[in-house]
Amino acid sequence: MLIRSRKSWEIPEREATPEAFFLNRRDILRGLGAGAVASLAATQVLAAAEADPTASLYPAKRNDAFKLDRPLTPESTNAHYNNFYEYGTDKTISAAAQQLEPHPWQITIDGLVEKPMKLDVDDLIKAMPLEERLYRHRCVEAWSMTIPWTGFSLAKLIAFAKPKPEAKYIQMETFLDPKMAPGQEMPFYPWPYIEGLTMAEATNELAFMVTGAYGKPLLKQFGAPMRLAVPWKYGFKSIKSITKISFVTQQPNNFWQQIASNEYGFWANVNPAVPHPRWSQASERILGTMERKPTLLFNGYEDQVASLYKGMEKLPLYR
Ligand code: MTE
Repeated sequence: MLIRSRKSWEIPEREATPEAFFLNRRDILRGLGAGAVASLAATQVLAAAEADPTASLYPAKRNDAFKLDRPLTPESTNAHYNNFYEYGTDKTISAAAQQLEPHPWQITIDGLVEKPMKLDVDDLIKAMPLEERLYRHRCVEAWSMTIPWTGFSLAKLIAFAKPKPEAKYIQMETFLDPKMAPGQEMPFYPWPYIEGLTMAEATNELAFMVTGAYGKPLLKQFGAPMRLAVPWKYGFKSIKSITKISFVTQQPNNFWQQIASNEYGFWANVNPAVPHPRWSQASERILGTMERKPTLLFNGYEDQVASLYKGMEKLPLYR
């Protein structure tokens, strides 16, 4: 979004460890006897389950109401092309993001609610009905992906939180911990990352709390343990690694708006007719295929969301 040279703490992709780790593990297993392998495997399964007590909930059943007009983006492409400024300003943050510790993880629900609370994300995930949805994902930078997200509708979380009628907006915050996310040492950025929606937007059926992708819990670079997906808006609305959800009366002043309000606004609805001040939004580059396709109004979700913006068409709502 903003162009900046690489800082020393941003680890280049070639130094990524996960694959090397798996290769190494295979070598170790080959070198051990069958009994030892069995007990080692059991230990690892146990360790994985301990690390993520929700792992057994995946893959969740696909909800076929959400259809795509193009193939899914391969997981390997998606997992190595991310925006997560807490771990660096370029797309190759996947290795750096392995510093994220998504378990244990507390979610605070506060503001205009019947009863403010703090709960463990794993308990929340277990209490919610998980489903898989195939969504388009369009970044304001004019690239796009198609992703099988797993999660639950944000409306379900709102019903659970019981906001008071005075609540006008839902505001969400990412964690703030520069030790876990060295990008948060960058003083220029207004940490923590903040995003928000009107209550009508947040309770639209498309607004989705995401806890998994590609049939398993979220990878760290995708914003584990819980992020948002609002597919009719530019990707920066889809906040990652959420720790706080507040119900408020004032329109949230989101992260990108605070940095450059002339380029990024609260609404951020995908609209091919309104260019970004520095580039066109008329078409998008599809990651994985490098094909270009015309961008659709509301990213193709017009039928589901256009009614939210009736009478507001003349306002500069798409920024
Ligand atoms: N959330 C946090 N906390 N930090 C970020 O830098 N980037 C946003 C959004 N959510 C971002 C974030 C932007 S600009 C986009 S396009 C999407 O996450 C990228 O999600 P992806 O990496 O899963 O494609």
